Amino acid sequence: MTPFASALLAWFDRHGRHDLPWKHPRDAYRVWLSEIMLQQTQVATVIPYFQRFVAKLPTLPELAAADEDTVLALWSGLGYYRRARFLHRAAQVCVEKHNGEMPREFDALAALPGIGRSTAGAILAQAYGLRFPILDGNVKRVLTRYHGIAGHPSEREVEKQLWLHADAHTPAERADDYTQAIMDLGATVCVRTRPLCAMCPMQGDCVAHRDNLTAQLPTPKPG
Ligand code: ADE
Repeated sequence: MTPFASALLAWFDRHGRHDLPWKHPRDAYRVWLSEIMLQQTQVATVIPYFQRFVAKLPTLPELAAADEDTVLALWSGLGYYRRARFLHRAAQVCVEKHNGEMPREFDALAALPGIGRSTAGAILAQAYGLRFPILDGNVKRVLTRYHGIAGHPSEREVEKQLWLHADAHTPAERADDYTQAIMDLGATVCVRTRPLCAMCPMQGDCVAHRDNLTAQLPTPKPG
């Protein structure tokens, strides 16, 4: 395991969130729904929406069979309604092509509407503990700072490097906790403005912290 991963997991054991509703009980449908809701919305906001949604539509086939109006009403207030339409459509694809279940294979999962490479990895890691890296906005910020990577994270070369680091750090053991941990660290400690470096378990090895570059990394969008 890299020093990054072991420091992060030790931090997660002491400071991470272990009470998230999509972890109890944990199944791929609930993890998927939470990941889609969390794409543009913070955990505290998502929790009541998540609970209302699974109370009404507790399984993937029930979501697939629901009216679009029902799904949109459950989403109402969360914003980015395209997420809800993709979710609904993806559930219908799972019923048509995957026996009403979330596929366990990366390629089939990433082919579903609204699920890209990072979300597919987040689902496989958190639902099944499989070793797949993630790279959402929070993780990009953590890794550009830790490794001192300049250039906007949407540039092809930068993104390629970030995926390589994301993959290298993702441990074979505890990939589920690691995935939650790196997202929590990005959301609560390695925040965009005035990161809380004194509370960060990776402070001692972080290039941006060492070189006093946390305000410059990640590099802002050009122009
Ligand atoms: N953002 C996306 N997925 C998340 C998760 N599982 N926990 C916290 N923030 C997230």
